[in-house]
Amino acid sequence: MNRQLLWAGMMVLAAWASATPGLVQAAERAEDLYKTYCWQCHGMQGDGNGINVRDMPVQPRDHTDPREMAARSDEELFTAIKKGGQAINKSVLMPPWDGVLSDEEIHALVRYLRRLCQCRHGG
Ligand code: HEC
Repeated sequence: MNRQLLWAGMMVLAAWASATPGLVQAAERAEDLYKTYCWQCHGMQGDGNGINVRDMPVQPRDHTDPREMAARSDEELFTAIKKGGQAINKSVLMPPWDGVLSDEEIHALVRYLRRLCQCRHGG
């Protein structure tokens, strides 16, 4: 099925379920995305312990580390996910997700990362 149609359908459903459950659905969707695309490297719990890591010369970010994650702005996290690690002067081993994930999905993932680290930029 057409992805945009599917997304539009989900938004209608979310609106229908009223504002608060709609937000909960978006959060659950981000977790699904993370557990589809990110866990191999960053780990199911987001702690940087995925099954790929023993073969990787650069270790994936531990997204549950509040000190490391607070050093990054939401824009930097967004750019890292959309354009890949290189876009924020990090390793090319962090792949770009532009074309796979929509901007909305990436924003939802940034919010999910903030939940994992329980931190904000700057503290
Ligand atoms: C192929 C392995 C791999 C996959 C898959 C992957 N990453 Fe990464 N990611 C990395 C590595 C390695 C780094 C660390 C790069 C560095 O430190 O130079 C990283 C870094 C990051 C950073 C930068 C954090 C920081 O402060 O340096 C973010 C944000 C991030 N990943 C999010 C994601 C998200 C969200 C997904 C899923 C859509 C994902 N990654 C999938 C390997 C991966």
